[in-house]
Amino acid sequence: MGFCKFSKFDLLSLIIVLYVVHCENDAQILNERVSLLSFMSRITDDPKGALESWKNSSSDILHVCKWSGVTCDMKENRVIEVNLTHKSLRGTISPALSNLSYLEILDLSGNFFEGQIPGELGFLYRLKELSLSSNHLEGEIPFEMRFLQELVYLNLGSNKLVGEIPMSLLCNGSNSLQYLDLSNNSLSGEIPLESQCELRELRYLLLWSNRLVGEVPLALSNSTKLEWIDLESNLLTGELPSEILSKMPHLKFLYLSYNRFSSHNGNTNLKPFFASLVNSSNLQEIDLAGNYLGGELPSIIGDLSTLVQINLDTNLIYGPIPPQISNIVNLTLLNLSSNLLNGSIPSELCQMGRLERLYLSNNSLSGHIPYAFGNMPHLGLLDLSKNKLSGTIPESFANLVQLRRLLLYENELSGPIPPSLGKCINLEILDLSHNMISGIVPSELVAGLSNLKLYLNLSTNLLHGHIPLELSKMDMVLAIDLSKNNLSSGVPSQLGSCIALEYLNLSHNAFEGQFPTSIGNLPYLKQLDLSFNHFNGELPQSLQESSTLKVMNFSYNDFHGNITNKGAFSSLTVTSFFGNDKLCGSSIKGLPNCHKPKRARHFLVAILLSLLITPIFCLVGYPLVLKSKSKKQLPAVNAVKYELEASEEIKYPRISRKQLIEATGGFSSSSLIGSGRFGHVYKGVLRDNTRIAVKVIDSKEVSGSFKRECQVLKRARHRNLIRIITTCSRPDFKALVLPLMPNGSLENHLYPSHGLKNGLDLVQLVSICSDVAEGLAYLHHYSPVRVVHCDLKPSNILLDNDLTALVTDFGIAKLVKGGDESVNGDDSASFDSTDGLLCGSIGYIAPEYGMGRHASTQGDVYSFGVLLLEIVTGKRPTDVLFQEGSNMHEWVKCRYPNKLEPIVEEAIARCAPRATVPCNRKIWSDVILELIELGLICTQYNPSIRPSMLDVAHEVSLLKQYLCGANSTALLIEQTQPNHC
Ligand SMILES: *[C@@H]1O[C@H](CO)[C@@H](O)[C@H](O)[C@H]1NC(C)=O
Ligand SMILES: *[C@@H]1O[C@H](CO)[C@@H](O)[C@H](O)[C@H]1NC(C)=O
Ligand SMILES: *[C@@H]1O[C@H](CO)[C@@H](O)[C@H](O)[C@H]1NC(C)=O
Repeated sequence: MGFCKFSKFDLLSLIIVLYVVHCENDAQILNERVSLLSFMSRITDDPKGALESWKNSSSDILHVCKWSGVTCDMKENRVIEVNLTHKSLRGTISPALSNLSYLEILDLSGNFFEGQIPGELGFLYRLKELSLSSNHLEGEIPFEMRFLQELVYLNLGSNKLVGEIPMSLLCNGSNSLQYLDLSNNSLSGEIPLESQCELRELRYLLLWSNRLVGEVPLALSNSTKLEWIDLESNLLTGELPSEILSKMPHLKFLYLSYNRFSSHNGNTNLKPFFASLVNSSNLQEIDLAGNYLGGELPSIIGDLSTLVQINLDTNLIYGPIPPQISNIVNLTLLNLSSNLLNGSIPSELCQMGRLERLYLSNNSLSGHIPYAFGNMPHLGLLDLSKNKLSGTIPESFANLVQLRRLLLYENELSGPIPPSLGKCINLEILDLSHNMISGIVPSELVAGLSNLKLYLNLSTNLLHGHIPLELSKMDMVLAIDLSKNNLSSGVPSQLGSCIALEYLNLSHNAFEGQFPTSIGNLPYLKQLDLSFNHFNGELPQSLQESSTLKVMNFSYNDFHGNITNKGAFSSLTVTSFFGNDKLCGSSIKGLPNCHKPKRARHFLVAILLSLLITPIFCLVGYPLVLKSKSKKQLPAVNAVKYELEASEEIKYPRISRKQLIEATGGFSSSSLIGSGRFGHVYKGVLRDNTRIAVKVIDSKEVSGSFKRECQVLKRARHRNLIRIITTCSRPDFKALVLPLMPNGSLENHLYPSHGLKNGLDLVQLVSICSDVAEGLAYLHHYSPVRVVHCDLKPSNILLDNDLTALVTDFGIAKLVKGGDESVNGDDSASFDSTDGLLCGSIGYIAPEYGMGRHASTQGDVYSFGVLLLEIVTGKRPTDVLFQEGSNMHEWVKCRYPNKLEPIVEEAIARCAPRATVPCNRKIWSDVILELIELGLICTQYNPSIRPSMLDVAHEVSLLKQYLCGANSTALLIEQTQPNHC
């Protein structure tokens, strides 16, 4: 090996080389050092100090081999690996890297590299692994890549690459490529694989989310070792590639969804496609959703017996469901929704003993629901909505003990609701709306479903009779819709004990009498529709005083009295009061004036007070912890810097029950600031003026090991977790004492009520997301015991003085009944096996919790993903569910990637007016798109492929840096947002 191998020297290296010319190998390693320094010189920011060791000017010429991320071959003394993945580096990639002629591995993934991929990298002819994924690289893939003949692993995914995939990349005469990932770019053109090209070793082909057109090239059939093909979300056309697939005996995962594929014989025949897969004896998943595929489902689908998941939704598949599908004995998910299927549901489906989720909605299925459905022990979700099913709801559903979601709406079902349905004690969502179901609402049903915690919808049926008193036992339910039936009599005031209720619709019935005050006192009630009934009397004051109610409709009743536009009514117009001839008031436009303006002054005062007392924790104050620990700045964002609590025992102040009684005015109703499923929260002031929030846990719910669990939770300490100041535990009284947060909850900021609060700009929102992710990552990975949060949502995220986010209510599920069974002995016991029943809120809860799975860290990742999507879309997940009938993931996914423009535009419009620094449109839309992608990845249905909270926290911190780095030229950020960048 001689000097002439080097293609380029810079002057410095030449001098050094001449200086040490007596030792050829030394010269070469010195030259490599010069190349690496030249690479470093193009790096403009290294916030983690990843290249610190590179700055050492040691005279040891082999010192370069000790630089972080650099590996040498010790025999030849040459650099063979440069791995700087996830180091937050910013800058461009220097072509000088091409001088490292022995390099076999180059991994720069997960940084902020911009600019183009230097074509010179093509001269690294020994390169086996090249990963530049998850950067901001632009431009085209350089044609010089074709010189990389030894390449085994190539990952350029998740950049901003454009243009066509160079044919020479896939057709360079090399036979070694096993892993090819160009996904999540903006690549266009066809997949350039011609018949003379062979990728015989290829096992992974990942091209999802690009703009690729044309057909899947036939030459791919020579890649017979393929295991994983993901071409999702492109613009690919042509017949399903059955000829190619028939040559893939090792295929495991096939994702072709969201393209423009058609079936054979002019989009009428699916049989060749399924037949081509019968020899793939490892096939686990096929996903063809969103392709407009036509044809009938062939019975041969039953021969793909190794399948675990089948997704064929949103196509044009017609005809009956073949009973042979039940031969796929290990199937856990079958989604045939949104097709043109007809005929009846074959009762054979019930032989699939492992089925967990069955979606047949939005077809034209008719006939009865098979009685045998009661025999599917693992069924957690059954969606038969939007079909033409008739007959009654089978009594056998009572056996589905795992059932969490039962969706039968928009069918032609008749007969009564079987009272035995109350035995499905794990139900979370029961939607029987838009049928012809008659009879009464059985009291056994609602009593049995007292655990139903999400959604009860019986709307638009033929139900009569009164609301059973047992409904009041549903103290976890978030939404009740009984509208459009013939229900009558009064509304029981006991409904006021459905403490978690957010949405109540009783409209279009024959209810009468006064509307109970207790319902206006519900602490979370947001929407109330009483229209088209026969209610009379005055509207209860409690409604107007509610700090949470936003949407109300009282129209077409017999209410009377004087209405003002104060409090919760300030956002209403006359349309909410139409058709009540005896209502009057001058402050709402369109209402007739009252004859006697009789308005007591203390009433006004009461309203003003109620305005001041906004929802939970939304009071001005300062956290107690800051008082005693203000000097001890807890370490910031990075995982490595998490403060791990050692043996140090912190002294918690002793606060007696008596002091708490004094501080909260005897737990008076005026200090009540919130109520949750597990008890009430009161604000209070201690004698030394510290403001506190006291969470009193409902004594009937408290777990036996309350005290021990509190000790454990107290030890989970992190700057983004709310600190438990102390606990108070007596046999008859259990409470947590927490600091009162001055800026309220994220909920208040995302949905400001009555114009009292301003919204947040993108920099603040991303910073809050980053805080939350850090807090969760600590709970999952670094706290003394692993804690699953179980109920992450905006109202459980509190904001400090400087808008630092603090996660609250973590581990609460563990403090109440149901969490006991797992813990036995030491603190290393995990919090994992919390009973799923106590976990989650509608819209944020992971779908697998409906499948009998216990609470898990992946469930928290799901909730976090929903939070990201909520922040970006500005839509509440409950609104998406109630108004659009889909969950957040589906709603965004069906707009991804080509229909996101309106979401991005809207998000910018929402955040820009509040921006504390000028908004850079391009950067903002980049960040918004990345938040959407991260949200989608976190909310994937399969919990095992969701990222860990540690990865998520890292991604969000990169976005935060990107956003802040991009704005830092304005320097404004430093002045106005010291804690967010
Ligand atoms: C780079 O290092 C990381 C761990 O630090 C490792 O996970 C990754 O596989 C390495 N990259 C390559 C291409 O070997
Ligand atoms: C597979 O490779 C052979 C060369 O080994 C080639 O002749 C043939 O055309 C290729 N098959 C396809 C379908 O391209
Ligand atoms: C079904 O799963 C079990 C293991 O869970 C496996 O042993 C069996 O081979 C699978 N059956 C088929 C047909 O793949």
